[in-house]
Amino acid sequence: MRIAIGSDHAAVLLKTRVIEALKPLDIDVIDLGTEGDQSVDYPDFAKKVAQAVVSKSVDFGIAMCGTGIGISIAANKVKGIRAALVYDTLTARLAKEHNNANVIAMGGRTTTPEDAIMMIEAFMNAKFETRHQKRIDKITALEGDRS
Ligand code: RB5
Repeated sequence: MRIAIGSDHAAVLLKTRVIEALKPLDIDVIDLGTEGDQSVDYPDFAKKVAQAVVSKSVDFGIAMCGTGIGISIAANKVKGIRAALVYDTLTARLAKEHNNANVIAMGGRTTTPEDAIMMIEAFMNAKFETRHQKRIDKITALEGDRS
């Protein structure tokens, strides 16, 4: 299992704690930054995570900013990305089962490391339910829809 993770300055601590927790599991975590508390722009890190996912160099991505809102909006602009802002284990599980999300987003100012880790595990343990494929196809069809 390979995961790309990226955050802005508002979620560096959460990102660090999550990476520490994932290391002992058999997971290859690619840290795409940022480091430190210097202010950066979350779309730049959304792009890095999204590109790792669409290039298939990772199985899924984790994107973090203060709330998870901005970075999920930004990631969803990249073709092929289905980024879900998750805030508990139920939304994390359903993001996979119903939406086949390939990026989960969360907030460094809204989510504790303990909750984040439980949410990531819930997402990883879930399976996409193919009865929802028709809706996923309709999401994909919206990419490039000019009507
Ligand atoms: C940065 O201060 C903050 O706006 C950002 O981390 C995020 O919460 C935006 O959605």
